Amino acid sequence: MDIDALQNQIESEVRSIQSAQELEAFRLKYLGRKGLLAQLTSSIPTLPVGERAAFGQKVNALKNTLIALIAQKESSAVSQAACESGERTDISMPGIAQALGRLHPITQVTDGICDIFMRMGFMVEEGPEIETEYNNFTALNIPLEHPSREAFDTFYLKSQGQKDARLLLRSHTSPVQIRVMKARKPPLAVVVPGKVYRPDATDASHSFMFHQIEGFMVDEGIRFSDLKGMLDTFAKAVFGKEVKTRFRPHFFPFTEPSAEVDVSCIMCKGKGCSVCGKKGWLEILGSGMIHPNVFKHVGYDAKKYTGFAFAMGVDRIAMLKFGINDIRLLYQNDLRFLRQF
Ligand code: DAH
Repeated sequence: MDIDALQNQIESEVRSIQSAQELEAFRLKYLGRKGLLAQLTSSIPTLPVGERAAFGQKVNALKNTLIALIAQKESSAVSQAACESGERTDISMPGIAQALGRLHPITQVTDGICDIFMRMGFMVEEGPEIETEYNNFTALNIPLEHPSREAFDTFYLKSQGQKDARLLLRSHTSPVQIRVMKARKPPLAVVVPGKVYRPDATDASHSFMFHQIEGFMVDEGIRFSDLKGMLDTFAKAVFGKEVKTRFRPHFFPFTEPSAEVDVSCIMCKGKGCSVCGKKGWLEILGSGMIHPNVFKHVGYDAKKYTGFAFAMGVDRIAMLKFGINDIRLLYQNDLRFLRQF
């Protein structure tokens, strides 16, 4: 039998099929148990030996063609039925692209900084944004009526209660030192990312809410040199190996001695430019050795334990890292701005 001619005949037959019944009849005619393909296969042994293999291959190829044609016809029948019932899948229609989100620059920088400290053995802890007056001020050696309360006096909640129990929006992340130290015993190495609130007038460098990362370490024999080495390592990890650090004496009620820490300006490499105000240095954090009065408030023996603490403004670091010149841009949720990072 001329299999090539058969192939052509089959293709035109398939084209004329109109219904599921006709398709089934077609299938039986060729692929059924007594169909043409079965007959052809069983005729193979009657052929001269030299022709059998070639003929067998042709029959097999024809069988595969038939199976494919039937499957094609079936699937087009299904989509035609769907079409007639009003349901329609237009596979040529472009898909709807899913908008991929990304992390806010503040979150990226917070995660990056916490990672650096975690690699140095610190744990990450968080505390509540609504704090007691005691944790935010008193326990941090900022007594009532002390002038330094004014510097970060904050938003008070309409809460009843004694003075120290009044509730407020925390003005720094330092109260989490109190919470963690009260809950646990040294050795401690903790970083605390979070939002803080101050009644500052908003401008390019101030916001009533911003982000800090607090850090502290307490154990026997912790020294100021540990603080210096650790913060220098941190600054190089964030801003690059060439960055230098500088510790300037300062006052904070909860540390003694205290220091502000500067890094050499990452824009001008210390030469002096508009970002660093021609100083060559950028202030990035406050730090010091935890004041014995703070240890007293949490019930630690200040003769046995020493520790250091520090805190930095995440917004400021993000602005320096990304070259952002107005803090308000971070809080306007303008995707044209945020998509750049
Ligand atoms: N809490 C201070 C502030 O918000 C920052 C600070 C300075 C935290 C020195 C510290 C520290 O832990 O040791 O201005």
